Amino acid sequence: MSRYVLPVSVFGTVFGCAVLLKNHLTGGSCPSKTKIHGKTVVITGANTGIGKETARELARRGGRIIMGCRDMKKCEEAAYEIRGSTLNPHVYARHVDLASIKSIRRFAEKIIQDEERVDVLINNAAVMRCPPGKTEDGFDMQFGVNYLGHFLLTNLLLGKLRDSAPSRVINLSSLAHVVGEIDFEDLNWDRKKFDTKKAYCQSKLAIVLFTRELARRLEGTGVTVNALHPGVVATDLGRHTGMHQSQFSSTVLSPVFYLLIKSPELGAQPSVYLAVAEELAGVSGRYYDVMKEKEPAPQALDQEEAVKLWDISTSLVGLETTASEQTSSPETVTQVLPEQIQIRPSEPAPAVTSM
Ligand SMILES: NC(=O)c1ccc[n+]([C@@H]2O[C@H](COP(=O)([O-])OP(=O)(O)OC[C@H]3O[C@@H](n4cnc5c(N)ncnc54)[C@H](OP(=O)(O)O)[C@@H]3O)[C@@H](O)[C@H]2O)c1
Repeated sequence: MSRYVLPVSVFGTVFGCAVLLKNHLTGGSCPSKTKIHGKTVVITGANTGIGKETARELARRGGRIIMGCRDMKKCEEAAYEIRGSTLNPHVYARHVDLASIKSIRRFAEKIIQDEERVDVLINNAAVMRCPPGKTEDGFDMQFGVNYLGHFLLTNLLLGKLRDSAPSRVINLSSLAHVVGEIDFEDLNWDRKKFDTKKAYCQSKLAIVLFTRELARRLEGTGVTVNALHPGVVATDLGRHTGMHQSQFSSTVLSPVFYLLIKSPELGAQPSVYLAVAEELAGVSGRYYDVMKEKEPAPQALDQEEAVKLWDISTSLVGLETTASEQTSSPETVTQVLPEQIQIRPSEPAPAVTSM
């Protein structure tokens, strides 16, 4: 019996250390136990991965959850499953395709009509490193879905968010933003050779710039907005990268993956934390690496770029047009437009020093 003691204790120690190291490396669970009864949460891309687990955790905490997804079958199934596992009946599947301005406007319009309030908006959906492709409106797929779609959606819901203040917007960015560059001459890869990695990084940098600029414009309104990197999470995000199929990654790298990659449940914790943590009341314009505030990449702190990107995005998605000066087609300008009028125009801002 005694000859087993040493190997068993070595194994136990290594296993214990691996678990502790994993928890340390992956960030652990949201420390806040806050319940959110009476609050409404809108989450995009909520049928799978981080979005689905965020929806589940916030449903468990008592929220009314609106899941915005492009595939209604998957969305209904996920909503059904979450209602069953949380015993919260207020989990709803709604259609939104972030690759379509028309669809985003319909989704926003329905929320504005049907929902009394929107307390939390989680801009979670994304595509990563997909083949070259354009959205319905001709934007690069990653720039259009990951950033422009959420830029439009957020602006359309600002009126509701303001009326529900204190309210929060949470933008899922990525550590990938650190190597991102915004190419203002060719945002949609129309002229240069398409590089899918760079396109993803550009979209995630755009989200951080958007977060900071929106926070500046919303100062004093009670609506806060923050961006986060959720860590490295085992989800479907890598579906276009070939990592899922790689023999090398599933065998040789699996011990490393075990330590560094977390489950979607753990991957959802940063979004949950930014949505509910009491200590984050009034905190806005920040970037979180998992659940720790960090300074984003220098190019994400460039105020001029943030304003420039805001102005271009406004024009790309047709937000500058008000109902009274309508020039676009009826599908692209709807009755939700008065919501947008509350946005303050661009103006030089004091540098944000807290990040
Ligand atoms: N996983 C990570 O390691 C990691 C790291 C850094 C940042 N992130 C960020 O975390 C967020 C969640 O990613 P995830 O890992 O959970 O990925 P995921 O499992 O691939 O989930 C992405 C979600 O976005 C949805 N989506 C894609 N295109 C859409 C569109 N046009 N309209 C509406 N929804 C659309 C997907 O719907 P379908 O199921 O229909 O495709 C899916 O529900 C993303 O913003 C991602 O960039 C993740």
